[in-house]
Formats: sequence, C-alpha cells, structure tokens
Amino acid sequence: MSSFKTGGDMSFQSVAEKSPPEWSSRLKIDYLADSNIPTVEDSGADVVQGLSRSPKTLPPKYFYDDRGSQLFEQICDLPEYYLTRTETAILQQYAGAIAQQTGACELVELGSGSSTKTRLLLEAYQAQNYPLCYRPIDVSAGILESSAQSLLQTYSQLKIHALVGTYDQALQTLSGAYLPQRMVCFLGSSLGNLSPEECDRFFEQVRLALRSGGYFLLGVDLHKSTAQLEAAYDDSQGVTAAFNLNLLHHLNRRFDGNFDVSQFEHFAFYNTELHQIEMHLRSLKSQTIHLRTLNLTIEMAAGETIRSEISRKFDLATLQPQLHSKGLRPFKIWMDANAWFGLLLCRCEA
Ligand code: AVJ
Repeated sequence: MSSFKTGGDMSFQSVAEKSPPEWSSRLKIDYLADSNIPTVEDSGADVVQGLSRSPKTLPPKYFYDDRGSQLFEQICDLPEYYLTRTETAILQQYAGAIAQQTGACELVELGSGSSTKTRLLLEAYQAQNYPLCYRPIDVSAGILESSAQSLLQTYSQLKIHALVGTYDQALQTLSGAYLPQRMVCFLGSSLGNLSPEECDRFFEQVRLALRSGGYFLLGVDLHKSTAQLEAAYDDSQGVTAAFNLNLLHHLNRRFDGNFDVSQFEHFAFYNTELHQIEMHLRSLKSQTIHLRTLNLTIEMAAGETIRSEISRKFDLATLQPQLHSKGLRPFKIWMDANAWFGLLLCRCEA
C-alpha cells in the first residue's frame, strides 16, 4: 500500500506524534469535530434547536463523550442487551464470506467505538492475505485513539486513518479510497437513531462515498416483543440509566450548563406504532436550566421529558427496497436463528 498517505495535512493534530515512532507511518487521525472553527455540526445549534422544540429532544451523538463511550461498552456486555452478542455471532459465522465476496477493500466504519466487532472482519481480510486498511469514524476521540493503538498492536500489517467527527462530517470528508474498493460498515443498529427521513439522506451520503461496485455492510435490529426490547433499554443494573443521564453531564461540561442530574430520571419504552424504543430524561420537578455558552434557558415542568434517543427496529421487507431505491442493493442477508438481528451486505449500483 505505497499510496497510503501520512502527515502532510497541516490541519490535524496527529496522535502519531505522541506515539512510538514505529506507529507513526501506520496511523493518522484527523480531528473534524474539535477543529478551531466550529461547524454547524458542533456549534451546539442542534442542542438549541432540540431543546426549543416541544416535545424537547436531544441528538444522541451527545451520549458519546469518553465516559459515555465507556458506558456504552458496558451496555454491550449486559445480559439484557442482546444486540451486540447477536451481531457478533453473525459476524463470526460470515466474516469469511464477506471478505470473499468483496475482495480486497478498505474498511470505513461509522461509529466505530471500540472496534471490537471489526476485528472479526479484519481477521477475515487478513486470512485472505488482503492488505488491511481501516478508516474508523467516531465522535469520541478518546475511544478512537485507544482502539486504534490496540488494533495496530494486534495487526502488524494494518494501516489506520481515523476521523474524529460526525457521520455527516466524515462522509463529506472521506477522500479517495486507499485501496481499489471500499466497504462502508455501519454496525450495531446505529441506523436506528435516524428518523426515516434522516435515513434516506444518510443512504444518499453513503452512496456518494462509494464508487460503483463498492460495498455497504449494515447491521440492524429487527422487530421483536416489547418485553424483550424494553428490558434491553432499561437493564436491571442501571447501566443504561447511567448512560442516558451522562448526556446531561456532557452538556454541562460542553456548554457550561447547570443541569442537576439528580433531578432527572431515565425512562425508556417501546413505541409499537413507530417500532422504536424511545429513551427520555424525565424532570423530577419544575426547574430552570441554563446552558451558558449557548445562551439558552430551558424551562421544564415536573414530569416533562427530553427525548434523548430513538432506536428504531427494522423489518427486512421494508428496509431492502429502501436501500435499493438509493442505489445500495442488498444482495446478501444474514440473520441469527431467532431472527433478532440482520446483517445486510449491499453493493453500490449506478
Ligand atoms: C448504539 C444506537 C445502536 O440504540 O441500541 C444502547 C444505543 N442506547 N442502549 C442502541 C443505546 C441505549 C444503541 N446504538
């Protein structure tokens, strides 16, 4: 992979500089979200917009400060949170088939987090003797830095170009592929965070990040019983509650706010009409909150909620034509034996 570029770009602080020299040629990290010029994406305009609406909402990307990313890792190991375990089992079984199908390609991953599941793909590509090029994208710099270093230690041939930023920022910033073909990976059913309209725009962006013949690997949580879903989003150990409430700590830090986190509680339910889990933060009393750097004052009535996340559940019969209509043709679909979770391998047509 002589075409792999390192350094040269003046606009990023490279972690490579802080790392042992033998890593520097294999790791580059661009910080899109933390740049000096705030973009619409990280100015907090989305917070102002969401909290000024009725009912109040917040974008789920604010869950993922470094603490939130750690809490999410704990969620993935909870007995009630079947998603990660189920998707991992599917990948364990089919990563080899995916690698054979796609041939050598760079792996772009949106919301890469700890990259634990991605290791299964990297191993399958390594087993085929394909060059390994990984482009993880996450809003949490801490988890991106630590997982990149850990991956480089495991895979001696791996090269990483990471982006700290949102999906939107990253999909617009991705340069040409380092390898002849590219696969965009979107695992864990993070697609569920997007409304149907956002989903359509997102698929269009993915499509634009691919050339004809490129691949899109999508993991989605499927319809199932309310009881199973509600347990997964309101676990007995309270980790999901802590994850939800941590969002308020993050906003306090980021926007000089004064949310009294003890005066809110976690609330999650399955909306059967919209087929979505909704997570809310419920105010335990009537209170006024300020986010000083956003110049925002929020009034909350006792019992009023802020919806912090939707987590949509999909059915393949609807999702397949939707992908196809955006030029992303699902041509391989795998599921677990219970049909709890689906993994779709799509090819970019057009
Ligand atoms: C990372 C968006 C897939 O919706 O299941 C886990 C986030 N929220 N528990 C999900 C989450 C509460 C998760 N995604």
